[in-house]
Amino acid sequence: MTLAPSRPARPARPGAAVPDLTAPTARLLALLDERRPGWGLPGACYTDPELHEVDLRLVWQRQWVFVGSVAEVPEPGDYLTVDLGSASVLVLRDDDGDVRAFRNVCRHRGARLVAESHGSVGNIVCGYHRWTYGTDGALLHAPQLPPEADPACLGLRTVHLRDVAGLLFVCLAPEPPDDLDTVADVVTPYLEPHAIARTKVAAQVDLVERGNWKLTMENNRECYHCDGHPELLCSLFPTWGLAEHQVPERLRADHDRYLRAETDLLNRCDAMGLPHALVEDLVRRPVGFRVQREPLDGLGESFSETGGRLVRRLLGDLTDAKLGRLGLHLQPNTWFHAMADHVVTFAALPLTHDSTLVRTTWLVDADAAEGVDYDVEELTATWRATNEQDAAFVELTQAGVADPGYEPGPYSEAEDQVEAFVSWYAARVREEAAR
Ligand code: FES
Ligand SMILES: [Fe+2]
Repeated sequence: MTLAPSRPARPARPGAAVPDLTAPTARLLALLDERRPGWGLPGACYTDPELHEVDLRLVWQRQWVFVGSVAEVPEPGDYLTVDLGSASVLVLRDDDGDVRAFRNVCRHRGARLVAESHGSVGNIVCGYHRWTYGTDGALLHAPQLPPEADPACLGLRTVHLRDVAGLLFVCLAPEPPDDLDTVADVVTPYLEPHAIARTKVAAQVDLVERGNWKLTMENNRECYHCDGHPELLCSLFPTWGLAEHQVPERLRADHDRYLRAETDLLNRCDAMGLPHALVEDLVRRPVGFRVQREPLDGLGESFSETGGRLVRRLLGDLTDAKLGRLGLHLQPNTWFHAMADHVVTFAALPLTHDSTLVRTTWLVDADAAEGVDYDVEELTATWRATNEQDAAFVELTQAGVADPGYEPGPYSEAEDQVEAFVSWYAARVREEAAR
């Protein structure tokens, strides 16, 4: 059994396809200039629908965005769709086995081609007048097409797509940021042992967080609040994200246990030739990222109550279950945990200025049998609980930043990755606004 994903209703789209954002952009730039380094963003950055449109234009429609993995489109004709504001993207595997991305818009009179978030097609048939496209996007059939119209010029509009070790990224900009290749070169050796191309989707859950997308990302970037995650803390060390000098006295024993587990993990990785070092470049580059292999608590294998593995069959050619967690984070919208037994991917996608879809996907070896090698309820328990807890934190924060009494506060030392995220965001807005 796969957990039934709860699909949120698609948000109403603004009437104007290309609104003039000159004034809101200027307003956002002024607010960003107003921010004190190390302190939070002004409330309007999270609550103003016009500023959200600027985010969509300058971040979501210009940067590389994670949309899913190759395991979500395993067979020719399999597709997924994501909405980035009013722009919808159709990602599908073509008949030759290549994954492609297209604008989810008919070339006739513009009808949305595919409404579902996932599915499978032989060809892509528009529901309005039945124009029919191949999985390569070519227009195959258009009833009563006028003779002067050339079908070869009416294929689906393509969208930039990159496959990084099985993780799929799209970019709507005509010229995408050129550093994804550089980042891919760094992170691919970390991901390859987990063989994402040889996995299948064991479960996927869509959760709507009642908060602006930046609050979702900020919340994910720190463990200052991790006391609120009892299930997660069975396997995630409570000192995650803290430098040595930031560890509070009450967590000293936990941190000492972490250091012992880290030494053990690094020795194992070195023996197997697995990369583990922290590489972090979160602010400077468009594809801000952080990657590191870190130990897990307890048995050190997976996100379970004991830290023991949740899937009997390990990923790829791995033979050692005690590989901790490969943590990978990419801006603007994703984070991953890759263990020896499964991978969890997270895509945060903006729905409205105050709601964000968090799509969580659990990947296991393609040959792992449900009910034999893993149990879906057990496999997903930690992150389902953690996601619900995070959604509550984000909703509380959205309510607070919308309150006229809100003033930005200072980040703690444990929130340096929140500061990095906000700095990355401000840098991208400034960069893109200047184009
Ligand atoms: S709008 Fe798609 S066939 Fe007419
Ligand atoms: Fe959290």
